[in-house]
Amino acid sequence: MASGPWTSSGPWQGERRPLLLAPMAGVTDLPFRLLARECGADLAITEFTNSTALTREATTSWRRMETHASEQPFIPQIFGGDINDMVNAARLLEEAADVIDLNFGCPAPKVTRVCAGAALMGEPEHLLDIVRAVVDAVDVPVTAKMRLGTGSGPDTVLDLVERLPDAGAKRVCIHGRTLKQRYAGAANWDVIAEAVHRSSIPVIANGDVVDGASAAACLERTGAAGLMIGRGAIGRPQVFGDIAVQLGWRDEASLPWVSHDPEAWGSADGITRDFMARRWCWNRYIELAQRTSGLRTKWMQRHAVAFTKGLPGGKAVRAVMHEQPDEAAFAAQVSAFLNAGA
Ligand SMILES: Cc1cc2nc3c(=O)[nH]c(=O)nc-3n(C[C@H](O)[C@H](O)[C@H](O)COP(=O)(O)O)c2cc1C
Repeated sequence: MASGPWTSSGPWQGERRPLLLAPMAGVTDLPFRLLARECGADLAITEFTNSTALTREATTSWRRMETHASEQPFIPQIFGGDINDMVNAARLLEEAADVIDLNFGCPAPKVTRVCAGAALMGEPEHLLDIVRAVVDAVDVPVTAKMRLGTGSGPDTVLDLVERLPDAGAKRVCIHGRTLKQRYAGAANWDVIAEAVHRSSIPVIANGDVVDGASAAACLERTGAAGLMIGRGAIGRPQVFGDIAVQLGWRDEASLPWVSHDPEAWGSADGITRDFMARRWCWNRYIELAQRTSGLRTKWMQRHAVAFTKGLPGGKAVRAVMHEQPDEAAFAAQVSAFLNAGA
């Protein structure tokens, strides 16, 4: 199924399970989603967009929903507390979307203030009404991304995962933290394990997966149908291919940043390999942007900072980036830095 994979959850014996790029505002723009897919992510989801703004045809909101023929499947994520706006936004997206994802996880006050995002974890009946209404309104699969609860009062996620299938949701992703926690503390994979046990639809685990070891630990602990990776992929989309290699799911030689120049890779040390992987990813990001959305300064600035973070000399290149006359010169400057290191 184009919009899959819809593998079921259950005890993990080391076999391949899907890896998803998490929706991230200001990060998962169209070229970055395409890049993550080429790096080994099975699915990528757009950043969240306000359903009310979409229904009012706010241009910046539609820009966040930008896709391209080469993006398959296209999975836009919407948020909102108003059922009519959620339904209308889903209807407007239905023709282009392969799946529509509903956000019940955002902790930002501007979102929770209007009882949307993670605030809906405290209003489970309303949350389920939204899911039911959107499912009834569109013919594409509807999925949900949620947290454990609000953190004030008992967690609601376990009750919700038992009821989401009846509401018509086809898959649920759980970020193992409450609204109150935001990003503090460790993600609670034990609650996700319990959710896997109770849910009849696939459960994707999310929170603190950054490499092969944490991916294996999370799959072992939760038995999730797949893993979603957020911060671990910022500036490092190669994390998807790296995890697949580390877990024995694919050969290192098949990674694009290795097959690009296998000889150089074979003789390179750790830091040089890091430069090589990041160089391939950055250059490919630029190519994909040129082919689809066009180069956008704001997106490039954010990714350039992330792609050069932690590399020797990275700080200096970030300082000169801002002096470049246009987007192409900016892209070339970052490429030259990553070339010199590799
Ligand atoms: C910069 C940033 C932006 C985010 N934007 C969204 C968003 O638009 N929609 C959403 O559901 N979650 C969003 N999240 C949450 C992530 O999707 C993910 O649930 C969270 O980062 C935990 O996963 P991780 O430990 O792999 O980063 C965002 C996270 C970050 C760091």
